[in-house]
Amino acid sequence: MRSLGRIGEWLPRLMQDRQLQRRIAGGLGLLSGVGVGLAGYALLHEPVAIELEQLTVRLPNARGRLPHKGLKILHLSDTHFQNLTRRERAKIERIRRLTAELEYDLLVHTGDFWHNEAGIENVAMLLDMLPKPRLGAYGVLGNHDYVCYSHSDILTRNWQRYQRINTNGHQQGAATPAYQNGSTPALHQNGYAHGRAEALSPAYSLQNDVTAPAASLPPLSWLEFAQDTIQFMRYFLNVPFDLERVSLNNVRLLVETLAEHGVEVLHNRSVHLCQKPGEADGMDLHLAGVDDVSEGAVDLATAWADVPQDSLKILLSHNPDILEDPASRNADLILSGHTHGGQVALPLLGAAHTQSIHLGRREAAGYMRRGNTHVYVTRGIGEGIPLRFGAKPQITLLTIVAE
Ligand SMILES: [Fe+2]
Repeated sequence: MRSLGRIGEWLPRLMQDRQLQRRIAGGLGLLSGVGVGLAGYALLHEPVAIELEQLTVRLPNARGRLPHKGLKILHLSDTHFQNLTRRERAKIERIRRLTAELEYDLLVHTGDFWHNEAGIENVAMLLDMLPKPRLGAYGVLGNHDYVCYSHSDILTRNWQRYQRINTNGHQQGAATPAYQNGSTPALHQNGYAHGRAEALSPAYSLQNDVTAPAASLPPLSWLEFAQDTIQFMRYFLNVPFDLERVSLNNVRLLVETLAEHGVEVLHNRSVHLCQKPGEADGMDLHLAGVDDVSEGAVDLATAWADVPQDSLKILLSHNPDILEDPASRNADLILSGHTHGGQVALPLLGAAHTQSIHLGRREAAGYMRRGNTHVYVTRGIGEGIPLRFGAKPQITLLTIVAE
């Protein structure tokens, strides 16, 4: 009541004080100007401000297997072309300028070439514009290469999944929500939903049935509701979204177009890049690639089938969640994309979301280690939802040398 009284005293003063009115109006104007500026930056500037990162990776296993000056790999990913002509052509032009003077041995693209089939022309245009690699160009498919998703009911859909998991988890007597106690279920639900589960390695086995109807529980108190909402937001930010699959892309068209423009798709297989082995400028490298974890039929055993254990091995996988499978650790180096670096990343808070089980929001992109396996996850070039903030798009020139 006292605060209401104060407002009652303050309002008439405000009505008469022209200077105070001007200051408040100025403050509000400044705030909205900053808001518009930030929105403009995130929507129009940052998505096309592609950076070239240069990174040297030292691999013990590379001794005597790579040219003494190192192996140069240009790593692209997540172009997400969908025929947004001006924006995508601006990205292609930016990449042309960044790569015009580059010389490299391999070009690799770790998937999400297109966002939908309308992007095929720009995929071809980008590939034709890049300087030709000395040893060839290789790629793997990403989830968007297979599927178009709808984001329109993302909140409702994931709230419903959260409720199913949680309700069923509580019903089983779980003290913590199911997604927090190590039994995270069906994180790649999209992949399972269309019958590819049997092709996935056992590491991805479904541990909990989230398709079961949620059990009914007594109504929540306001405090419980608030706690539940906070818990849901943590779930929403940290667990890959369940997205509605609205249509399938013509993957055959994509793979054929890539082949016509010099890119060979490594679909659960490897190539042996061997030239003058043992000589100063010689090389002996096995490059493997796997299908997408969530929408493809990933088969690491087949991908490694022709690769000797004691060899230098690089693995391409669109989704860094391949690291959940112990067989991925055969690789000396894994190159991935998919996370877009979170797409929105704020100081102190980190990335908004990684759409990954394996990578948390504080490890959304960049170089990292998993035991003896070196891992590099690029922020990629494009995006489905066309904005970025604090997670600039990038291409990367990796130089692989012997340690
Ligand atoms: Fe992507």
